[in-house]
Amino acid sequence: MNVIKLDATASTNTYLKDLLTSYDLDNFTVVSTENQFAGRGQRGEVWSSEVGSNLTFSVLVRDFLFEVEDVFCLNIIAALAVRSAVKKIFTLELDVKWPNDILSVNRKVGGILIENIFKAEGAITSIVGIGLNVNQVQFTDLIKATSLALLLGSQIDKDALMLKVVEELEMYCQRLQKGEKENLWQEYLDVLYRKGVPSAFELPTGKRFMGIIIGVSMYGFLQVKLEDDSVEEFGVKEIKLLY
Ligand code: BTN
Repeated sequence: MNVIKLDATASTNTYLKDLLTSYDLDNFTVVSTENQFAGRGQRGEVWSSEVGSNLTFSVLVRDFLFEVEDVFCLNIIAALAVRSAVKKIFTLELDVKWPNDILSVNRKVGGILIENIFKAEGAITSIVGIGLNVNQVQFTDLIKATSLALLLGSQIDKDALMLKVVEELEMYCQRLQKGEKENLWQEYLDVLYRKGVPSAFELPTGKRFMGIIIGVSMYGFLQVKLEDDSVEEFGVKEIKLLY
């Protein structure tokens, strides 16, 4: 596995994307850093990570997706890969909050930002950026976050965990290529946070309402059953799951 380790960089996703414009990189090339000083999250948010404590890395998944409808599937398998690596190493079960947050008991342990490079024709290349709270032990009360070290009560070998996540990601990519899409979807739904229980949501207008998550569409839309029993689908920027 080709791993590029940087002391510091603004964003490993950006670094890997820039590198790709000049070099013909191997599939599953990894860029990681101890100090990501301008990390990017979903919905244009910032991803900050304590220097030296956590994992911030990006994995190149080359010419992998062929259909736009599979773009969300990569989100699913990236989340399942992180979950599976943690489960295999630490026997710790984490939840996946739609679309791809990694949680433990309501608190965020990790996040994933996938950026796709669409060519005029042919396959889509993706950069899978993963941020995991590993050895950080203090978080401000403003964010509902925790780390693996807090959950497990011990310090963790970050490099071993990162390699395991990449290994799992490769394995899940192979499963998708072998046509196991429906199984993967089911695996995702089985670990989806707050599926089937009454939950509170917020729209970008600030309006709040109750509903029940019943599934996720092939394009990644969250399917929510409302109080009048109708079902509506929401995109990532259209709804926030509160609790
Ligand atoms: C989120 O939950 O909002 C997604 C966070 C993704 C953070 C990772 S850290 C490595 C990679 N580089 C970035 O700038 N972002 C991703």
